[in-house]
Amino acid sequence: MQEEILVRKGPEALLHSPTEGVTAFREAICRHMVPRGIRSSPEEVLVTSGSQQGLDLVARTLLSPGDVVVVEEPSYFGALEVFRSARVRLLGVPTDADGMRTDVLEALLARQQPRLIYTLPTFQNPSGCVLSLPRRRHLLELAWRHQVPILEDDPYSDLRYEGEALPSLKALDPYGHVIHLSSFSKVLFPGLRLGWIAAPRPLVRQLALVKQTVDLHSGTLGQWIVEGFLSGGLFAKHLGATRAAYRRRRDVLLAALEEEAPAGFTWNRPEGGFYVWCRLPEDVPPARLLAQAAAERVAYLPGGASFVEEPPVNSIRLNFTFAPEEQLREGVRRLGRALRATQAEPRRGNHTVVGTPPIV
Ligand SMILES: Cc1ncc(COP(=O)(O)O)c(C=O)c1O
Repeated sequence: MQEEILVRKGPEALLHSPTEGVTAFREAICRHMVPRGIRSSPEEVLVTSGSQQGLDLVARTLLSPGDVVVVEEPSYFGALEVFRSARVRLLGVPTDADGMRTDVLEALLARQQPRLIYTLPTFQNPSGCVLSLPRRRHLLELAWRHQVPILEDDPYSDLRYEGEALPSLKALDPYGHVIHLSSFSKVLFPGLRLGWIAAPRPLVRQLALVKQTVDLHSGTLGQWIVEGFLSGGLFAKHLGATRAAYRRRRDVLLAALEEEAPAGFTWNRPEGGFYVWCRLPEDVPPARLLAQAAAERVAYLPGGASFVEEPPVNSIRLNFTFAPEEQLREGVRRLGRALRATQAEPRRGNHTVVGTPPIV
């Protein structure tokens, strides 16, 4: 593909390109968003160097230190870090199996005037959950009523393994109030660092001015490569194969958990995305489990990283898309051993603490 592009486009593929993105690529992204229910023109699309850059550009463009930003909890820890570096005040809204609790958001909006609502409505990272259709509508209505823009982070919606697809928030938004952020990292080549923002033109222009100060533009050759995948039909084939493989891996992970998990360890069954979200038994302190898991050489994301402050319950995030099936089974066997070893450790903290020894 790369060679073919270099022959077809010549040096153009290796030169600078517009900050907003290669025009043919922006057009291909518009076609790519149609199944999500989004009808944008190329001028309403900004190509970004991964959606992580999209998060940063939105923060730099819209937020000032001290602003309030609403996030759902749990949330994508990489976004929390971006917002923390922007020195904003984060307010968490809890989620359940239907996504963000918009009733809690409604109560919060009666007291606070946030500058942004950040949400992951489809196969959330880390919990895998999906915001239900009534809540999508409720969220849009609330954000409009209180004049708060919504940042919809949606890198996973192409990876649905079962169930009915829901329209994206942007597709349901009659007000032009939603900034849609997405990426090719989860379905194609994360190393090419290509994502995009779909937003109203004036905002795209502002974001492009900020992007210009950051990296001038995203890599030209990579944009032509992904454009070739999208326009030549290769992407659709690749996506079909990826969905089938990831679905099998999800099922392998879920079956392994059925076999290995000790009592009190519970998990969800995501219909898509990358992650299974698990709740730890009460007798498993997260820090001790981490040490046992390191000894077993098995890795997961501790749930605490995904919360603004202390999590209400102890959770961990398991990824099922990266490792091949046999490694997933082995990983769960090791996690099971780590969980049982943590439960078998003598409990500390049953003695009375009499005071803090002075540091001398
Ligand atoms: C929800 C979410 N947003 C953004 C990103 C950043 O992805 P990238 O910059 O590779 O597009 C990730 C990566 O894990 C993610 O899960």
